[in-house]
Amino acid sequence: MTITAASTPYRDAAPAGAPRGVGARVDVEGLAKTYLHGGQRLTVLKNVNLHLDPGDMVAVVGASGVGKSTFLQILGTLDLPSEGRLAFNGQDITLFGAAQLAEFRNKTIGFVFQFHHLLPEFTAEENVMMPALIQRMPRAQARKSAREILGRVGLSHRLTHKPSELSGGEQQRVALARAMVLEPALLLADEPTGNLDRKTGEEIHRLFLDLNRERGSTLLVVTHNPELAAMMPRCLRMEDGGVLVPANSPMPTPADEPVIAPDGAPVDEAAPDVADAPAADAPDGGVA
Ligand SMILES: Nc1ncnc2c1ncn2[C@@H]1O[C@H](COP(=O)(O)OP(=O)(O)OP(=O)(O)O)[C@@H](O)[C@H]1O
Ligand SMILES: [Mg+2]
Repeated sequence: MTITAASTPYRDAAPAGAPRGVGARVDVEGLAKTYLHGGQRLTVLKNVNLHLDPGDMVAVVGASGVGKSTFLQILGTLDLPSEGRLAFNGQDITLFGAAQLAEFRNKTIGFVFQFHHLLPEFTAEENVMMPALIQRMPRAQARKSAREILGRVGLSHRLTHKPSELSGGEQQRVALARAMVLEPALLLADEPTGNLDRKTGEEIHRLFLDLNRERGSTLLVVTHNPELAAMMPRCLRMEDGGVLVPANSPMPTPADEPVIAPDGAPVDEAAPDVADAPAADAPDGGVA
């Protein structure tokens, strides 16, 4: 079933004055990614499953190298999965040809990366106009939309500055404005504040979430930043093979690793310290 803009549960549930945009419903089923590298097959993602409802806001955390960026690139249709299904509003986009996919991506998905990737020879305003111009929006309208969102991120006074004439935080705000100017159905961010100082990072986080609440995009953010992860309504952890579990699930521990006491001596697990032992009815880690 294809969910149309007018019939999304998110839209129907939204009170007056709440999000005007319409997020995508995203279904990932049995997704796998294998790279061929130096004649060897390297499987990064084995069997990833994820369902996002329109307007969901999700953080993905996980160890370095586990496959978070790989997954994000595939979700953003910048890379193809080796196996599996990736559907937006019920439509499997792995069946699209290259041209159809490029147009779909431009219309549907906004990206924010750790490094802003702004075009250095263009001004802030021109950078933000770019996705609208690619979509053949009339120039005056593209300029109006760009000015509106740049105002929203607090940069009305920096429209004519080129990226090299902006601070790091300002550059990232331009990148955020560019990602959101077309009100994407899916907004993807890969460590969006990884390159900023803490205070600027927090400002950008707040802006990110406020804008997204207003606009209603479905949002997935990969982050190593525990504060950003904690601000999101749902947080998942990627484990080896790309398995996504609720972030508050217990961490997997290698079964054969010796338990070491604080003083460095191995602990005899057959004789646990009663005071430290969990109660028999303790929760199992709160899997959501
Ligand atoms: N094009 C490629 N060819 C071969 N291997 C790749 C390719 N791209 C990524 N990898 C490997 O896939 C694994 C996952 O990489 P990925 O960038 O997705 O990790 P990540 O979870 O985003 O890590 P980080 O938190 O450090 O950004 C890594 O071991 C990486 O070396
Ligand atoms: Mg990464």
